[in-house]
Amino acid sequence: MSAALIGASGAVAGAAYIVAALLFVLSLAGLSKHETARRGVGFGITGMTIALAATVWVTVTQAWGSTSATVGLVLLLVAVVGGAAIGLWRARSVEMTGMPELIALFHSFVGLAAVLVGWNGALDGEGLHGALRDIHHAEVFIGVFIGGVTFTGSIVAYLKLSAKISSKPLMLPGKNVLNVGALVLFLALTVWYVITPELWLLIVVTLLALALGWHLVASIGGGDMPVVVSMLNSYSGWAAAAAGFLLNNDLLIVTGALVGSSGAYLSFVMCKAMNRSFLSVIAGGFGIAAPSASADAEGEHRETDAEQVAELLAAASSVVITPGYGMAVAQAQYPVAELASQLRARGVDVKFGIHPVAGRLPGHMNVLLAEAKVPYDIVLEMDEINDDLASTSVVLVIGANDTVNPAASEDPGSPIAGMPVLRVWEAENVVVFKRSMASGYAGVQNPLFFRDNAQMLFGDAKDRVEDILRALATS
Ligand code: TAP
Repeated sequence: MSAALIGASGAVAGAAYIVAALLFVLSLAGLSKHETARRGVGFGITGMTIALAATVWVTVTQAWGSTSATVGLVLLLVAVVGGAAIGLWRARSVEMTGMPELIALFHSFVGLAAVLVGWNGALDGEGLHGALRDIHHAEVFIGVFIGGVTFTGSIVAYLKLSAKISSKPLMLPGKNVLNVGALVLFLALTVWYVITPELWLLIVVTLLALALGWHLVASIGGGDMPVVVSMLNSYSGWAAAAAGFLLNNDLLIVTGALVGSSGAYLSFVMCKAMNRSFLSVIAGGFGIAAPSASADAEGEHRETDAEQVAELLAAASSVVITPGYGMAVAQAQYPVAELASQLRARGVDVKFGIHPVAGRLPGHMNVLLAEAKVPYDIVLEMDEINDDLASTSVVLVIGANDTVNPAASEDPGSPIAGMPVLRVWEAENVVVFKRSMASGYAGVQNPLFFRDNAQMLFGDAKDRVEDILRALATS
């Protein structure tokens, strides 16, 4: 293919990349509100389709005619078709509750890709001189480092989220010194590599990054995992941007920077919402002391049944429903939505109170409630509803535990101390839907269950809500 045609195809791809980048920005803007989220996803899919088509197009036009390029093209097509098939299969088969671990696994692929691109860049960097050569070596080293940290960090997050390893924080002696030491070593090795780019330095930084990623996430306790997942999202963005510099791909740089900065901002917002120090979480729990052994809550709990709850609800003037992970497991959102609509038809003031980390991923409860067509205007954030709880007749806690735990505000020794929670215990009556007295994700017992105004409704949340609907129909 002539040089002119190759140049023209590059210009077409460049224009397509700009359109794709704009679509990604529109996508992020759309995803920030319930009402526009679907449109945002549409923009994202269109942008990604354009980006992939443009990349394949550039590869095809530039590769035309040479044998090694044809091999590259075949490999590219196998990767695109194989990746798309696996992606479609996983997206269709994954349970909503399994999303965070799938996302963590996806981040690990981005990290691994950045490490491989970095290594490829190191082995393929001949012919550069002067400042360009130094910049190239710095890009390789930084890309491999961020990619390595993202790779193992995401694998540990995946193992913790899927309960394949314990979610308790790993407390190695001198863990802060280890983390800071690894960062200082990385900076020193980067300078060394830029001056003398020897292969063994690349091997050392790869191993260092893999070990640091593992340690950073292993040191973080279960309650802080939501922040870690969004932080790894951010790291994976920076890893992609680093790969973009090496591959000379502007779109990858823009997209990586978008993911990196939006992930960092989301982590910051979540840290504020959970009263955690942003810097200490991204530094692998830096400065967080091991929780002291707090007295485990104990006492007598009171049991109730569906008929009694139906009576309580029929007599209530206001009801707040605070869903959590158990509602997702039971897939109880449809009967819960039906219960809310029946109570509203009877003149009861019904609202939903959503904790920012209820469930297992940001917005988990909002997605489930939207799926069940609960009107957006009765779904309120924790800060919007907390002050109203004291004047609420009945709170229904449906499969939530850590997010309604009074120990977070009352027991400084609790592992979730300081995390803002829904103050459901201030209501006149609280009904807790769960299957047993087991603790929630953070592994902490909940004193709410033993409060005088709290009653336990044991069983699968979906079955119990359906029982209440039946009892209400006959009352
Ligand atoms: P959790 O504290 O995880 O408690 C969920 C409760 O649901 C459990 O106590 C469980 O008790 C109950 N449950 C499970 N299956 C049920 C079923 N079929 N029917 C009825 N109840 C059922 O939930 P939460 O209050 O939503 O808090 C979320 C936790 O996850 C926080 O610690 C948060 O930090 C963490 N986390 C959140 C995210 C994000 S971003 N949202 C990501 C990772 C981790 P039984 O077993 O007794 O039924």
